[in-house]
Amino acid sequence: MKTLEPCTLVIYGAGGDLARRKLIPGLFRLDIANRLPEQMVIMSCGRKPWSREQWVAEVLAMLQTQYPPEVIAHSFERFSARLHYHASPPDDPDAYVRLQKTLEDNPSIPPNMIFYMSVRPAEFPAIIDKLGNVGLLKEHNGWRRVVIEKPFGYDLLSAQSLQASLYKHLNEPQIFRIDHYLGKGTVQNVMVFRFANILLEPLWNHHYIDHVQISHSETLGVEGRAGYFEGSGALRDMIQSHLLQLLALVAMEPPVSMNAEHLRDEKVKALKAIRPIPQNAVHAHAFRGQYGSGNIGGGAVPGYLEEPGVAADSSTETYAALKLFVDNWRWSGVPFYLRTGKRMAESASAIYIRFKNPPQDLLKHTRRDPAHPNWIMLGIQPDDCLKIELQVKVPGLDVHTRTISLDATYHRKGDEKFDAYEGLLLDVIQGDHSLFLRIDEVEAAWRVVDPILKVWSMERDFINNYPAGSWGPRGTYRLFDRDDQFWRHSLNLDGADLQAY
Ligand SMILES: NC(=O)c1ccc[n+]([C@@H]2O[C@H](COP(=O)([O-])OP(=O)(O)OC[C@H]3O[C@@H](n4cnc5c(N)ncnc54)[C@H](OP(=O)(O)O)[C@@H]3O)[C@@H](O)[C@H]2O)c1
Repeated sequence: MKTLEPCTLVIYGAGGDLARRKLIPGLFRLDIANRLPEQMVIMSCGRKPWSREQWVAEVLAMLQTQYPPEVIAHSFERFSARLHYHASPPDDPDAYVRLQKTLEDNPSIPPNMIFYMSVRPAEFPAIIDKLGNVGLLKEHNGWRRVVIEKPFGYDLLSAQSLQASLYKHLNEPQIFRIDHYLGKGTVQNVMVFRFANILLEPLWNHHYIDHVQISHSETLGVEGRAGYFEGSGALRDMIQSHLLQLLALVAMEPPVSMNAEHLRDEKVKALKAIRPIPQNAVHAHAFRGQYGSGNIGGGAVPGYLEEPGVAADSSTETYAALKLFVDNWRWSGVPFYLRTGKRMAESASAIYIRFKNPPQDLLKHTRRDPAHPNWIMLGIQPDDCLKIELQVKVPGLDVHTRTISLDATYHRKGDEKFDAYEGLLLDVIQGDHSLFLRIDEVEAAWRVVDPILKVWSMERDFINNYPAGSWGPRGTYRLFDRDDQFWRHSLNLDGADLQAY
C-alpha cells in the first residue's frame, strides 16, 4: 500500500445526488479502511449558506442511510474532523477569493488540492474559470488536480470547446475525466483476464471470434431525472462513454506496460480503428427505441412519454443498439454489437464473446439442434463473474453432446468489495490516471456516435416502441450480420434464451 501525500479534496456540488449517494459515503468507507491520507481535509462547496456544524449534521444524515449505527458510532468522529464547508452562493462575487484565502492561508489545510466537479456539466467551465482566476489551480506550492464528472460534452464540438476552456487553466496531467464504469472490478478484470492469461491471446482475434456483444440493461426508467435524460438519451448516456470503453478494453492490443499512458494509448488506437458510420449508413448500424407502458416485477409502469418532465412528443431514445467494426488486423470483419436500454426485462451488464464453430462439424449426427458455439462471458453487474461455455459428452452409451458452463466466479468469501467511486477517488489522490479518460479517447468516442446523433436528431417523427419489461424493440435483429446471431440476454445456460429481438 502506497503512503499517500496529505491533500485537500474540494467537492463542488457536495449537496447534490452524486455526492450524497457515492462520494461522501465512499470517502467515509475509505477512512474506515484507513486508506485516506492522515491529514486529508474534505472541503465541501455548495450554494446553501450552511455553517460547518450544519454540514456535519447533513453528512451524518447521509451516512445513516448507508451505514449501521455501530459503524457510525465507531468511525464518524474521526471522519467529521476532516469535514469543512464553504458556502458559495451564486450572487456572492467574493466566494472564490474567500475560498482561496481559506485554503491557502490556513496551515492545517494541506496545499495539495483536488477539485471535484460534482455539479451539472453546464457549471464545469464557469467554476474552473473562477478557481483559475483566483490562482487556485496554479501548482506553486503543491499539486492541483481537477476531477470532471461525465458527460464530457454533448457531442464532439461541445467536448472540444469544454476542453479549450479547461486548458486555459489546466494541463492534461491535472485533469481526471471520470467514467465510473472503469472503476468497477469486473471492468478492470477484463484487462487481467486478457493480459495475465496466455491461454486466450491466440484465440482473441477474427480467426476464432464470431462476434462480441456488450450489453447494459436496466429495469429502471428515468427515475425523476427526465430533465437530464431528455437532453441526453441512451446513446450519449451509456454508449458514448461506458460501452465504448468496454469495447476498447476487449479490442485493444496489449499495452507496453500497465502505466496510464501506455494503457490509454492502446485504448485510443482501438477507438480510432472503429469504422466511421457515414450518415447514409446509420440505419444499417444503429437502432433506437423508446419504452411504452408495461409490467416490471409484477407491477404496471408508465411509458416514457407519461413520465413527469418528458415532452409529449419526445423522440429521445431510451434504447439504443449499434453494430460496429474495429478495422484493424486483429478484428477485421468481427461485428461488435452494443446495446443499452431502460425499462428492460432485467438489470444486467455483461460482455458476451461468441466463438466460431469448429471448421468441420464432426459430431453433427449426434444431435438434432444446431451446434452450440463456445462463449466467454464477463458479468459486470449484478453478477461480477466470468463464465465459459463448452461442449461435453452426455454420460451414456451413445455420443450425445451437451453444453456446460464453467463458472470462474472469482469472488471468495471475505473478499473486500468497494464501490467504483471509492477506487477512483483513491486513484485521484494517488495521481493515477489509468482509469480516467484522456481527451483523445473522449474525442474518438464522440466521433463514433456523432453521425448517429445527427441523423436521429433530424428524424423526430418516428421512434420504435417497446413495452416496459421486454428486451427492447422488435426489429433490432436487422443489425445482425447473419441469421444465427442473436442477442444473448443471460449468463446462464438455461437462460441462454437467444431471441431474435
Ligand atoms: N447522480 C448520479 O448518479 C451521477 C452519475 C454519474 C455522473 N453524474 C454526474 O455528476 C454530476 C453531479 O450530478 P448530480 O446528480 O449530483 O447533480 P445534482 O443532484 O443536480 O447536484 C448538483 C449540485 O451542484 C450544486 N451546484 C450547482 N452549481 C454550483 C456552484 N456554482 N457552486 C457550488 N455548487 C453548485 C447544486 O446546488 P443546488 O442544490 O443549490 O442547486 C447541487 O447540489 C453531473 O455532472 C452528473 O452528470 C451523476
